[in-house]
Amino acid sequence: MKIYDLGKVTVGLVIFFLVFTFPLYYNMGKATPPPEPNIQTEAIAAMSEPVCVENTEYMRANHMKLLNEWRTSVVRNSNRAYPAFTGVRYEMSLSNTCMECHSNKEKFCDSCHNYAGVSPYCWECHLQPKEMK
Ligand code: HEC
Ligand code: HEC
Ligand code: HEC
Repeated sequence: MKIYDLGKVTVGLVIFFLVFTFPLYYNMGKATPPPEPNIQTEAIAAMSEPVCVENTEYMRANHMKLLNEWRTSVVRNSNRAYPAFTGVRYEMSLSNTCMECHSNKEKFCDSCHNYAGVSPYCWECHLQPKEMK
């Protein structure tokens, strides 16, 4: 390759790069923003300090794992008492505990799950809260 071809090659490469990556930046401005899970429920509003059973970071990343641990504890070991990080003891129950505070399932759980494309099948058996509008 002669040196005077370099300009053409570079232009060619730049055009190729722009066309090739077009779908990436074309969608950038349009991507749906991640949801802001809504924590405005009666039960949470009644708390002097609104906190979950573990810290928010942990819950965001590990709530599925925690639910599995709760299920194992209840079903295998008949132990339903869960000492939260605050020291408060909660009953290990999806419907009676999680959904008591997070009674706005649609705006809370579902807003994230729809965004992430997951749909836990729990509600075939476990009671869903009656949505508060
Ligand atoms: C086929 C029915 C069924 C499905 C589906 C199901 N469970 Fe359960 N689950 C049960 C039964 C039955 C118990 C035992 C209830 C008890 O002893 O109080 C239980 C207990 C639990 C418990 C502990 C006690 C309680 O009442 O919450 C947790 C937590 C739990 N399941 C979480 C989940 C999660 C999370 C999912 C979805 C990923 C799920 N389950 C799906 C039937 C089901
Ligand atoms: C006593 C009320 C209460 C209970 C019980 C409770 N939560 Fe929470 N939860 C909260 C509050 C309040 C927050 C928000 C805390 C904050 O903003 O720092 C929260 C935050 C979360 C988050 C993180 C949300 C985010 O913004 O990323 C998840 C996920 C979650 N909870 C799931 C659960 C699950 C699953 C259970 C049952 C295992 C549960 N919660 C039980 C009150 C509760
Ligand atoms: C901050 C966003 C967020 C909130 C709020 C949230 N989830 Fe999730 N949840 C996720 C994500 C993301 C996944 C998928 C994680 C993965 O596959 O690793 C998930 C997975 C799960 C799973 C496992 C499902 C499966 O098929 O693997 C269960 C069960 C679950 N969530 C229950 C709940 C419940 C109950 C609530 C409301 C009390 C809730 N989540 C609130 C983001 C959230």
